[in-house]
Amino acid sequence: MAAQSIIGNWKLNGNRSMINEVLRELLDAKLGAHVALCLPFTYLDQACQLLRDSAIKVGSQDVSRYQEGAYTGEVSASMVKDMGCSLTLIGHSERRAYFAEISDVLQYKVTQALASDLKVVFCVGENLAVRQSGRAVEYVLNELDVLRAIDPSKFVVAYEPVWAIGTGASATLEEIGVMHQAIKASLGEEVSVLYGGSVKANNAKSILSVSGVDGLLVGGASLNAKEFIAISNSGNQ
Ligand code: PGA
Repeated sequence: MAAQSIIGNWKLNGNRSMINEVLRELLDAKLGAHVALCLPFTYLDQACQLLRDSAIKVGSQDVSRYQEGAYTGEVSASMVKDMGCSLTLIGHSERRAYFAEISDVLQYKVTQALASDLKVVFCVGENLAVRQSGRAVEYVLNELDVLRAIDPSKFVVAYEPVWAIGTGASATLEEIGVMHQAIKASLGEEVSVLYGGSVKANNAKSILSVSGVDGLLVGGASLNAKEFIAISNSGNQ
């Protein structure tokens, strides 16, 4: 069975000492080759230094849609790459909801990330109203249009139903299976599809056992080393 990927997303959390503590615990636990952490920009350098001799990869949670120039406050994909990162999240539902990131913007970001040789973890997912209307698959496949012209080895998709993020209510195994199959049927069987939304140590194994689930994107539970280690050890190595 192919190795599964477990990616932590720290969101707007952490500080220097927490990075130091949690990452050292992960290093001591000798996790497999397919674990990555997406951290705030300010700590990418520290994390890349700490993890440089390990198989744990480091990524950003976003990149600028611009390459360089007069864009105050922005951080470019090439800067993220220059820190030693190998991946970035793009299109997380919190970016879409709070920072008005629509498909056109995401298309620019994907282009920037690929130009800097960062693997793109492209996040998609429906909100509760869409799920209840019965149009979740249609909605998610529409969000995937950004990726259609791209070589599938350059990105992975993270399916994260918005109603399951940070709520403690993960999607059912059946809902996850149906959506992952639909994404693969639409983009290609070779595309890796991760699930995210209230993944914890106590549900990781069952979610990872669903056909079509190639890994997990873990928010809150990735802030706790023991929890994240347990989740990482639930996947195929
Ligand atoms: P959660 O977040 O695991 O805290 O639900 C997942 C995510 O937003 O990536």
